Amino acid sequence: MAKYVPFPPIHLPDRMWPNRVINAAPIWCSVDLRDGNQALINPMSPAKKHELFQTLVKIGFKEIEVGFPAASETDFTFVRELIERDLIPEDVTIQVLVQARRPLIEKTFQAIEGAKTSIVHLYNSTSTLQRRVVFKATKEEIIHLAIEGAECIRSLAAACPSGAIRYEYSPESFTGTEIDYAVEICEAVCDVWQPTPTNKTIINLPSTVELATPNVYADQIELFCRKFKPRQSTIISLHTHNDRGTGIAASELGLMAGADRIEGTLFGNGERTGNLDIVTMALNMYTQGLDPKLNFSNLKEIRRVAEFCTELKVHERMPYAGDLVFTAFSGSHQDAIKKGYAAMQETAQEQFEVPYLTIDPADIGRQYDPVIRVNSQSGKGGVAFLVESELGFQLPRRLQIAFSQVIQKITDETGREIVAREVADKFLSTYVNPPALLHLTSFSPIECNVEDQERYRFSITYDGSKSDIEGQGFGPLDSFVHAIRDSHGLSCDILDYHEHAMESGSDSMAVAYILVRTPRGQDLFGVGQHKSITKASLQALVAAINRGLAIPK
Ligand code: KIV
Ligand code: ZN
Repeated sequence: MAKYVPFPPIHLPDRMWPNRVINAAPIWCSVDLRDGNQALINPMSPAKKHELFQTLVKIGFKEIEVGFPAASETDFTFVRELIERDLIPEDVTIQVLVQARRPLIEKTFQAIEGAKTSIVHLYNSTSTLQRRVVFKATKEEIIHLAIEGAECIRSLAAACPSGAIRYEYSPESFTGTEIDYAVEICEAVCDVWQPTPTNKTIINLPSTVELATPNVYADQIELFCRKFKPRQSTIISLHTHNDRGTGIAASELGLMAGADRIEGTLFGNGERTGNLDIVTMALNMYTQGLDPKLNFSNLKEIRRVAEFCTELKVHERMPYAGDLVFTAFSGSHQDAIKKGYAAMQETAQEQFEVPYLTIDPADIGRQYDPVIRVNSQSGKGGVAFLVESELGFQLPRRLQIAFSQVIQKITDETGREIVAREVADKFLSTYVNPPALLHLTSFSPIECNVEDQERYRFSITYDGSKSDIEGQGFGPLDSFVHAIRDSHGLSCDILDYHEHAMESGSDSMAVAYILVRTPRGQDLFGVGQHKSITKASLQALVAAINRGLAIPK
């Protein structure tokens, strides 16, 4: 016998769900305070439970499973406090979980006494494996257990004010249960509770253990809904866990397959690999233009509360909430993001369309600023972006390559990320203000008797000595090259030249980029910035010459 066997596919050749789209928010139920809490190394203190409950209410949950009061004294006390201190808003229904055993059900009703409305959530495991190895019970015995539980709940509910009790039933381990049997046991429970289209029972179909690909779960949901007779009198709820890492996908496809309601937790806390992450599922909807009816506009604060209450850290890569999810390290991504934002601004476009970002970080209380970061993987695009955003310089391509090598050396040597300000400072100290032996103080045109040429006098300081030097050529740059060569023997050839005005708001400054080749064959950029483009280009030339002078012979 093989150690692992494939999950058998569901025979549903006319499945409808792949053609459907999610076009409305489901009913959400948070199970953070029950399923999530049960899975914690340190279950929540009453104070933490209260803080998380308040946060869930603020997010907009209208159904919140607050505990398993028959199994835990802390939960019992917490439920009593919620009711006695009148902490449950009018439009919020608390939910409590209970197994199909009379003493537990009685204790559960004591816990919820006085609540305006509560959902009593009955469950028992129905999977083939659990029936065989845990309960050692027949199908009929398990149905009998569920019916007894349902009857006990119905009789206790009858003594409560009308409308105070709603019902939920979960065939636990539904994904490992034969569909026909799941239908049979859920129908048996509904026979007891007698739901109607105006007084619906919740039938929750848990993927207690995720056993197959999410499409199989969707098939199971669609098939169940087709076969289940009281479908119109029930709310079909999903409760997925994440054993294969596809709990969110399973809930999304299950919703397409006909479900109405979703149970899950913030950031997916829950047994083993966790429950469905409601934050991700809801924000996935939001990015499709659908109102999820949950408010995550202050995701940072929600994350803070969840981390405090669960003592579990939200992973850096967690969709929407992780520290690094609005951060691009790769240069080509950084460049594309920059262009996306610029294009949106230019056209005043409303639709959010930025490459590599599915959501505007601002919509969930996050920022765009930290998007661009540079490490050894970033390449020239990211470095150039930072220089432009910090200094307003639009580097020519060859300078982008040259400067990214300078940054790469730093990140390789230090093994750490380099922040925007450091990149900008390094650019200035390398190309604009390198260590200087040569200074140009002033210059002025003087008479030139060669046609098509100009002549200039330059006041300079070289290695601490002041002098006035003269040279002529096809403009001030050419003249300076000749003057400094003839007077001090400093030779260089100008290979490339670029200039641009700074963007508006910078008092019409100009920037010049000059690439020179030194007599030793080194190609070096210098950059100058001034209101006068002539001064900016001379400064750039002097900076490039100084860089050559600084290289040891
Ligand atoms: O995962 C599960 O099946 C449960 C049930 C109790 C609903 O948590
Ligand atoms: Zn669960």
